[in-house]
Amino acid sequence: MRSTNSPGALKQLATKYVAVSVAITALCMFAGWAATNVRSDDTQAKIKVKTRLRVLAAGKSPAYVAGASHDYATATFDGLERYSTWENSDGKSATYQPQGPFTADNPFFKPMGTNGRSCVTCHDPSAGWTITPAHIRARFEASHGTDPLFRPIDGTTCPDADVSTPAAMKKAYSLLLNKGLIRIGIAIPPDAEFSVVEVDDPYHCTKLSSPKSGVLSVYRRPLQATNLRFEDSLMWDGRMGDLERQANDAVRGHEQAVDGPMPDQLARLIEFETGTYDAQTWVPKAGSLQDGGVGGGPVALSREPFFIGINDPFGNNPIGAQTSLHVFNLYDLWRGDPNPERARIARGQAIFNATPMIIGGVPGLDDAEDHPTHEGFCTTCHDTPNVGNRSINILMNLGTADASRRTPDMPLFTLRCDSGALKGQTFQTMDPGQAMVTGKCTDIGRFKTSSLRGLASRPPYFHDGQSATLMDVVNFYNDRFQVGLTAEEKEDLVAFLRTL
Ligand code: HEC
Ligand code: HEC
Repeated sequence: MRSTNSPGALKQLATKYVAVSVAITALCMFAGWAATNVRSDDTQAKIKVKTRLRVLAAGKSPAYVAGASHDYATATFDGLERYSTWENSDGKSATYQPQGPFTADNPFFKPMGTNGRSCVTCHDPSAGWTITPAHIRARFEASHGTDPLFRPIDGTTCPDADVSTPAAMKKAYSLLLNKGLIRIGIAIPPDAEFSVVEVDDPYHCTKLSSPKSGVLSVYRRPLQATNLRFEDSLMWDGRMGDLERQANDAVRGHEQAVDGPMPDQLARLIEFETGTYDAQTWVPKAGSLQDGGVGGGPVALSREPFFIGINDPFGNNPIGAQTSLHVFNLYDLWRGDPNPERARIARGQAIFNATPMIIGGVPGLDDAEDHPTHEGFCTTCHDTPNVGNRSINILMNLGTADASRRTPDMPLFTLRCDSGALKGQTFQTMDPGQAMVTGKCTDIGRFKTSSLRGLASRPPYFHDGQSATLMDVVNFYNDRFQVGLTAEEKEDLVAFLRTL
């Protein structure tokens, strides 16, 4: 009955998903071709074709390699190879573990709580180490909503939502199914400068005992649990100081455990998280992104230097070295390449590095209180070389959570500032962001500048999945910062972003 309602593509994915959970043999064969050592993608492609044929001949589904998600927590999952390849709608991505391969008994893959979830439930390597709506819907269809992802604690729009019938479940899990959003409940800090004076919440899930106390429910995308060696800020609102605290919180929260992980489990988890790199490796027309001297893919990424504050343009670089605006140099060799797609990617990289824009009214960009206008670039904020996050834990308010961008599926909170620098002012926001951590009105709507690697594997974008495609992201910036890109330049920029 459910399948008659679902669109064809979804049904297909769902069928693949079912097939894959039984066809673990296919997984093992796949693991065999995902080379232990790095090979060029061309070689990989050949091996892959062969393996696919073998898989098909054995009557098994090639779903795993086609990118459908599956239950990594099954006892038979072997863990990743040192270098593993995944497919996405823009080509292929790969995960590389220089010190690996880490096996499936790493706590990352093991349920540590009471609800069957493990870290990989929401941080899936075939989806850029997060989860995407296409995969989520396939998992929902295939498991009839019993996959551990679908737990009311934070998978539904509210833990008390009705999940008694299939139709009720679809409604309760709507934000997860449509945008890949997880509910995060955060208490108003005791010393907050603001009161929450009005709550317009379609899910009635913000429970306040007074305008100054209670828990706000906000809805956010899982961040990538990879490329973490380059991160100084953890979580969209920067609330976690380190990976240890983060893991403890994830196990007690998402996995509903009574106790956090044991010290040895924590150590192995963090070794895994900081030793894992993920990036796009192949796109149609341009081909391999990591052969012949160009610098895409996770192997080159694993060798990128990093320290907190590297390349920050606002005086936060501890060694005071001159800031380079040539933040991405991966495709320098493709400038003017006879292959038009390669030339386009190089043009997109140049636009990202150095097309000027008017960056105004962004709290957190510099220390000034009046948020002056700067002439800047994408790289003014996305400053970590060849990674693209901000290299220091200073969050910014781009306006992504503003009332003007609200869609009916998101809550809207009205915050009145009773003390501090903005006393007397009122703000409306879908998610107060960092203000729920610091209690400060100046931090309302601030989020971290997330890494830009692996973008093609993990739509939709921004903290609440408000941009379905990379073109939507580019259009947001083009309007917000008066970039003035032509249609052609937008295409170039998107072509570059999807190679990351
Ligand atoms: C139910 C889904 C879910 C599960 C299970 C889950 N996470 Fe997450 N994870 C999220 C969400 C959502 C966020 C972003 C939340 C926010 O910013 O408020 C996140 C953020 C993170 C981040 C921050 C990354 C960054 O760049 O800031 C790390 C690291 C992480 N998770 C690791 C883990 C680990 C380790 C586990 C297992 C112990 C785990 N997660 C289990 C959903 C999940
Ligand atoms: C003023 C600082 C700033 C500038 C300039 C800036 N960004 Fe961002 N970027 C951010 C922040 C902060 C976020 C996260 C915002 C959120 O999720 O609400 C972000 C998020 C993104 C994301 C989504 C990442 C994800 O994981 O969902 C993409 C893609 C992106 N930026 C691309 C660009 C491009 C392309 C440009 C130039 C046209 C640019 N950015 C300019 C600060 C900036």
